[in-house]
Amino acid sequence: VGEEVARRTGARVAVVVTVPVLARRYAPVALRSLRAAGLRAHRVVVPDGDASKSLARVRQLYEVLLDLGVDRSGVLVALGGGMVGDLTGFAAATFLRGIPFVQIPTTLLAMVDASVGGKVGVNLPRGKNLVGAFHQPRLVWIDLATLGTLPLRQRAAGLAEVVKKAAAFDARLFERLEAEAGDVLALAQGPLLAAVERACAIKAEVVRRDEREGEAGVRRLLNFGHTLAHAVETLTGYRRVLHGEAVAMGMVHAARRSEDLAVAPAGTAARLEALLRRIGLPTELPRFPRRAYLAALRVDKKRRDARIDYIVPRGIGSATSVPLTPAEILPARWRRRPAEGCLGSEPMGARGR
Ligand SMILES: NC(=O)c1ccc[n+]([C@@H]2O[C@H](COP(=O)([O-])OP(=O)(O)OC[C@H]3O[C@@H](n4cnc5c(N)ncnc54)[C@H](O)[C@@H]3O)[C@@H](O)[C@H]2O)c1
Ligand SMILES: [Zn+2]
Repeated sequence: VGEEVARRTGARVAVVVTVPVLARRYAPVALRSLRAAGLRAHRVVVPDGDASKSLARVRQLYEVLLDLGVDRSGVLVALGGGMVGDLTGFAAATFLRGIPFVQIPTTLLAMVDASVGGKVGVNLPRGKNLVGAFHQPRLVWIDLATLGTLPLRQRAAGLAEVVKKAAAFDARLFERLEAEAGDVLALAQGPLLAAVERACAIKAEVVRRDEREGEAGVRRLLNFGHTLAHAVETLTGYRRVLHGEAVAMGMVHAARRSEDLAVAPAGTAARLEALLRRIGLPTELPRFPRRAYLAALRVDKKRRDARIDYIVPRGIGSATSVPLTPAEILPARWRRRPAEGCLGSEPMGARGR
């Protein structure tokens, strides 16, 4: 990675930002490689968890960069999952009005989603990702071998974002996943590489066409499953349910609504659900009262009944957006389907907050 960083950035000093577990496992080899390529290389370790995606942490990074004398000839290297990528990218976007950065994603989610596209940012106490920028990495360096230490649950959650791209843009990738999802999860080289490559290519193509998520743009379609996912994450306090798991639930709900609205043919939701369940992902929304979901859906909408661009499949491999109010996204009888798909025996959310 060192030579490639040097070639793409011309940097003389690199600061690798990472979390403790990765600092031990992967930072030493990255630092060696950077040094071998002639860069001065430093390491900054931030605590694990999304709480580190904060302005306080960004400020600390600025201080470290100043201490190290980093100027525009420096490069920040994000070594980690989406949390590290978003935090490091935001620091790079804003320090000295922007210095280069490089992504070395180590989670499947970051490889196929967060590291590509240039969205960087941090959370505020009142909500996730409320402060951010567009800042493209000079390089995204994916080493699939790092997934060997990633827990299965995290791998499955990352795969949800691959399923999302397949369901929204690429029926052939969806078919491929139906045949090979187990192999991808087991990190079989061929299927894993094919899935990661295709997912990155889809995201890159979407971003190329619509970098800043224009009103009528295609990038919005990447929000498939995310409207309700964000509500689930809010209601569960960003614990218990991983982002990809929430996206799986949101996608299935959207596919069912799409069938109800006659936008997608019957069977679309069942096919999506079958694949997600085979991956081991939950597909039923946690049991919070409908009014709690509606409140969460309304959270960033000024008007109570403002319509949300709700992304729904038109079938496997194609998606569209339908303007719906929160009450239309979650109609009164939305639970009428038997909840046999619920996670295990204990309904999620039963313990409340
Ligand atoms: N910028 C974007 O476009 C975008 C898109 C999606 C998500 N995100 C953001 O990404 C974050 C979620 O990313 P994530 O799912 O990668 O979570 P994460 O970065 O929190 O990583 C998940 C966990 O896996 C550990 N880990 C990472 N790599 C590992 C490895 N190789 N082996 C063992 N453990 C490893 C981490 O330490 C952490 O505990 C959220 O903050 C989300 O908002 C951003
Ligand atoms: Zn997502």
